[in-house]
Amino acid sequence: MADWVTGKVTKVEFWTDSLFSLTVHAPVLPFTAGQFAKLGLEIDGERVQRAYSYVNPPSSPDLEFYLVTVPEGKLSPHLAAMKPGDEIQVVSEAAGFFVLEEVPDCETLWMLATGTALGPYLSILQEGKDLERFKHLVLVHAVRYAADLSYLPLMLELQQRYEGKLRIQTVVSRETIPGSLTGRVPALIDSGALEAAVGLPMNTETSHVMLCGNPQMVRDTQQLLKDTRQMTKHLRRRPGHMTAEHYW
Ligand SMILES: Cc1cc2nc3c(=O)[nH]c(=O)nc-3n(C[C@H](O)[C@H](O)[C@H](O)COP(=O)(O)OP(=O)(O)OC[C@H]3O[C@@H](n4cnc5c(N)ncnc54)[C@H](O)[C@@H]3O)c2cc1C
Ligand SMILES: NC(=O)c1ccc[n+]([C@@H]2O[C@H](COP(=O)([O-])OP(=O)(O)OC[C@H]3O[C@@H](n4cnc5c(N)ncnc54)[C@H](OP(=O)(O)O)[C@@H]3O)[C@@H](O)[C@H]2O)c1
Repeated sequence: MADWVTGKVTKVEFWTDSLFSLTVHAPVLPFTAGQFAKLGLEIDGERVQRAYSYVNPPSSPDLEFYLVTVPEGKLSPHLAAMKPGDEIQVVSEAAGFFVLEEVPDCETLWMLATGTALGPYLSILQEGKDLERFKHLVLVHAVRYAADLSYLPLMLELQQRYEGKLRIQTVVSRETIPGSLTGRVPALIDSGALEAAVGLPMNTETSHVMLCGNPQMVRDTQQLLKDTRQMTKHLRRRPGHMTAEHYW
């Protein structure tokens, strides 16, 4: 049984009508960048709990989560209604294997996210540990509309901090925006447009691909990379080129 601690919401920031970030103070145990916590609220007499990735680096005491309100969702609309000072339950021990320890050495680490699944990469990049073993880092954030690129300022700040080692690429599916690719990640890989925009190849010789978020995006991309680039899922017992986390 997981241990729960009571935390306090210290900040609620809305980026759009449905995207928001919660900052929480809670006495949780140390975690590894890329892991997720569980947040819980008492709703109609029972605790409803869901997984949320840490956005903050482990070294920060401000626990930050990036969320989307799922219409008709059981928990997310309640989290969207929270105010600073409200109490929230947080699982004290983080979980998950979407961490750099599980990623083999390579030249280029591709970090692909849809929507709120950008969080784990922001935690990893803000922490900045264990990244010396990669020559290039590529962060790709794929969203529906440009307004959903909530953390673009932080992504640009990180790009500066990494002095050329980190390349960022935004992908917008439902409108055309200068500087962003238009469409969906698998199609943009298939056409070569993503690699052309970033200026680096995605192949078995140079790359490892991390995928996080919409499970259909993760599955479609993995299938494409398997069929067209001979990339395989990375397992401890059988090294490969892809590491993934599904959000639902
Ligand atoms: C390891 C892990 C980490 C996660 N981290 C985050 C996170 O950092 N931020 C976040 O917003 N969510 C995250 N999720 C999803 C989150 O746990 C909940 O599923 C989500 O908030 C919906 O809960 P709900 O009770 O409101 O909806 P429910 O009543 O449980 O309805 C679930 C349905 O909502 C849809 N859905 C769920 N999550 C999302 C999502 N993020 N984007 C789009 N559609 C979704 C799916 O159709 C799913 O079947 C994560 C999930 C996992 C497994
Ligand atoms: N984002 C919003 O403005 C908004 C507003 C209100 C409510 N919501 C709700 O919030 C939830 C999550 O929305 P979200 O926009 O954060 O996440 P999402 O639906 O997962 O979309 C994020 C990105 O992933 C893409 N995608 C979806 N399926 C894919 C696939 N099979 N392969 C590759 N890419 C794929 C989407 O492209 P496509 O655009 O082509 O699908 C979009 O660019 C939904 O329930 C939604 O109804 C969202």
